[in-house]
Amino acid sequence: MTPSDVKATLSFSDGSPSMELPIYKGTIGPDVIDIRKLYGQTGKFTYDPGFLSTASCNSTITYIDGDKGELLYRGYPIEQLAVNCDYLETCYLLLNGELPNATQKAEFQNRVTNHTMVNEQMQFFLRGFRRDAHPMAVMTGLVGALSAFYHDSTDINNPEHREVAAIRLIAKMPTLVAMAYKYTVGQPYIYPKNDLSYSGNFLRMMFATPCEEYKVSPVIERALDRIFILHADHEQNASTSTVRLCGSSGTNPFAAIAAGVACLWGPAHGGANEACLNMLEDIQAMGGVAKVGEFMNQVKDKNSGVRLMGFGHRVYKNYDPRAKLMQETCKEVLQELGLENDPLFKLAMALEKIALEDDYFVARKLYPNVDFYSGIVQRAIGIPVPLFTAIFALARTVGWIAQLNEMIADPEYKIGRPRQLFVGSAKRDVKPLAQR
Ligand code: ACO
Repeated sequence: MTPSDVKATLSFSDGSPSMELPIYKGTIGPDVIDIRKLYGQTGKFTYDPGFLSTASCNSTITYIDGDKGELLYRGYPIEQLAVNCDYLETCYLLLNGELPNATQKAEFQNRVTNHTMVNEQMQFFLRGFRRDAHPMAVMTGLVGALSAFYHDSTDINNPEHREVAAIRLIAKMPTLVAMAYKYTVGQPYIYPKNDLSYSGNFLRMMFATPCEEYKVSPVIERALDRIFILHADHEQNASTSTVRLCGSSGTNPFAAIAAGVACLWGPAHGGANEACLNMLEDIQAMGGVAKVGEFMNQVKDKNSGVRLMGFGHRVYKNYDPRAKLMQETCKEVLQELGLENDPLFKLAMALEKIALEDDYFVARKLYPNVDFYSGIVQRAIGIPVPLFTAIFALARTVGWIAQLNEMIADPEYKIGRPRQLFVGSAKRDVKPLAQR
């Protein structure tokens, strides 16, 4: 971290001694005020629920400029990665800091491909779930259970274990998500086929059956690969922070990633794609584009509890660059499948247009996020709505691992332990039952 020449001074109106706080500069983005000695020197904590102003770590992986609507993985703009690279190159970049050359790419691809199968016992574990279980409930269990199958890669403090766990997780997530799907629909699992691409293999495991081979469409394969790239990492969001916090106790990588899966599930985070598609289907059922105005009035009414899902973001106060790319992909996929007139896509475009012009959204800088269009693409590909967040988890796994490994390798890392402002009862005595 580069120290700044500027220092912050914290003073107190009650005459307590003031304190000088160092400031560090990032390569880009806001400086940070180092408050690590604050409690030791003043006996006070900072208070920042929801981490609105708190950097929880330093990182070299992903940078977001929320005002500009810019997203960089290791310095590369997401728009360039989405057009020039595939998902496995992006994984290599996130894990290693540089894009692979041709040899490195082939080796990495080979390693991932050789780990796509899961232990055969895994399917018996899966059978313990109800067939109608939500795929994210299943994924939380399956990912956590990997630690019970791969004992030789569970020591988070061993760099080799971390590397093998990373490859295993990236390789096995598509197999597990496809197994979760096949289990729900009661079809036999389809084993991975290693001469297909990462995305092509996933599509085949999802949609082939033993009776009928699945022919991978290059347009759909590319679209899915782009969905994976766009979701690969997003700096210190809720699930990534969960993975870091969970891993900070020294737990094994599979358990830490399972914690990320659980966090991602929520509708304010990765569950938004499912919630967004359900919202679009509800509006469509109410009358579609003609009812957009009525729906928007509900969204703007604070008492209704209705939010425009797929809109708004803690960091982006401009168009989420991933949403633009996703909208492009959406058009390509719908065209490939002859669904150009898809009513939900039309409805989404109408909602977006109205929201972008409406004072409520303009004043709060609310723009579409990645989830606004990703659900429409996935639905068109044939992915069932409840599986959307599992696809997100599949893609985000590499980001979680890269962030986790960065934390463990940081000599300054400590177990995460936030403090609190206690506002409950002061010390009091327990009265005997008869007197309470
Ligand atoms: N619809 C309507 N109003 C909204 C929305 C929305 N989608 N998002 C924010 N607002 C309003 C809030 O009501 C609030 O208004 P106020 O200032 O009058 O009280 C203001 O905008 C700020 O919103 P906050 O909730 O304080 O913003 P925060 O940064 O905490 O939340 C979040 C961000 C959770 C993403 C929010 O915008 C939201 O709920 N969006 C819908 C869910 C969604 O799409 N999540 C996906 C995020 S991207 C991802 O995880 C991949």
